[in-house]
Amino acid sequence: MKEDKKTCFGNRLIPEEEKEGKVRELFTSVATKYDLMNDLMSFGTHRFWKRFVASKTELSPGQRVLDVAGGTADLAILMAARVGPDGKVVVYDINRDMLELGRDKCIDRGFVKNMGYVQGDAEVLPFYDNTFHCATIGFGLRNVTHLDTALAEMKRVVKSGGRVMCLDFSHPTNRFFGRVYDLYSKNVIPRIGALVAGNREAYVYLHESIRKFPDQEKLKSMMENAGLSNVRYHNIFNGIAALHIGEKI
Ligand SMILES: C[S@@+](CC[C@H](N)C(=O)[O-])C[C@H]1O[C@@H](n2cnc3c(N)ncnc32)[C@H](O)[C@@H]1O
Repeated sequence: MKEDKKTCFGNRLIPEEEKEGKVRELFTSVATKYDLMNDLMSFGTHRFWKRFVASKTELSPGQRVLDVAGGTADLAILMAARVGPDGKVVVYDINRDMLELGRDKCIDRGFVKNMGYVQGDAEVLPFYDNTFHCATIGFGLRNVTHLDTALAEMKRVVKSGGRVMCLDFSHPTNRFFGRVYDLYSKNVIPRIGALVAGNREAYVYLHESIRKFPDQEKLKSMMENAGLSNVRYHNIFNGIAALHIGEKI
């Protein structure tokens, strides 16, 4: 008898084919409160983290960038400012509600002409090989079923000499700090999620998925296995988050 392949959804093991639907449902339920929750949970610091990522893209005017799992377009907006009106930013996300909120935000900030929005799965990017100067994924890889497939896809669509960049929660390097942070994310964040977004479970999933996500060194090797070169990472806030950068040669 054929056995179902399982994957993690937070702490639960579920059949692989169910994960995408569950993740999509989760983001639909929190979409309208997503930005507010980010500000509350991180005390606004996620804005600095994203600015740091945008600065490390080293994008210049006229270039093309893909933001995978781009959601409400924070990173896309920062990168749109870098590539300018002659460049192009494509926001790619599996969830229509997140994508629409992102598109509205871009329009409100005056980024219209050089933006594109495409709905789909990070594991199957509907773009030709060697299309973009850079591909980013911010707080998205954790939610994907096959991380290695998504990384290989990002590498495929980036031009030779381009960058693949992954910003996500990671593992604090100081044990005491890590313990305090773990208690905060386990006990406080789900309460804020219940009060503000009306969905405690979504923020329990956040905590659990962070714990399950590969640590800095493991993710670095996964990017190397995806064929990226010169892979390195920057710990942010003692490793609460990390930015991994790899190059396609
Ligand atoms: C935590 S949000 C991050 C949004 C944005 N990048 C940011 O930094 O604020 C995760 C996003 O990943 C998207 N997502 C989850 N699984 C995905 C998949 N398999 N393919 C593409 N997008 C996915 C969700 O819909 C959601 O918008």
